[in-house]
Amino acid sequence: MRRLPTVTALTLGLMTIAGALAAQTPTPTLYKRLGGYDALAAVTDDFIGRLVTDSALSRFFGGHGNDSKARIRQLVVDQLCAATGGPCVYIGRSMKATHSGLGITGADWDRAVRHLVATLTKFTVPAAEQTEVLAAISALKPDIVEKP
Ligand code: HEM
Repeated sequence: MRRLPTVTALTLGLMTIAGALAAQTPTPTLYKRLGGYDALAAVTDDFIGRLVTDSALSRFFGGHGNDSKARIRQLVVDQLCAATGGPCVYIGRSMKATHSGLGITGADWDRAVRHLVATLTKFTVPAAEQTEVLAAISALKPDIVEKP
């Protein structure tokens, strides 16, 4: 049997290893694909800014002072960071406990989701990542909406 020249054999070997490594490389977390912490914080600020200035939703946030709003904002950042595979830990209350008694309706929810899509689009988040974010958020809907 004729032996392959050393260089060719080496090249084939390296290509095999590279192929195997590529096949093993996991897809980066949604957190990383969204751009990491600063990007998530900016998305959260824009999203909350839209919620509190929407005259149809602002009543929910009326009784909160600046410090309370900053606390809610930080908890939303932490929650998004944790839910998308980032290094944060969410230490806020459950979504059910937090939103219980606010009387958030299905229409309020739809409005909030439209704001979120507007925010994600503004930050040029690709369609695939937008779908993943919305799927994660939609899982919370039953705990947040009280009046379908
Ligand atoms: C899009 C999905 C939503 C997420 C991920 C979310 C997340 C959160 C988080 C993490 C907090 C703070 C939790 C804590 O204090 O321990 C919070 C508070 C709050 N959220 Fe949401 N929320 C969502 C939708 C909404 C909607 C649609 C409304 C109303 C239109 C709303 C109104 C509020 C209010 C008023 C508070 C403050 C409650 C309080 O201080 O007692 N949220 N939310």
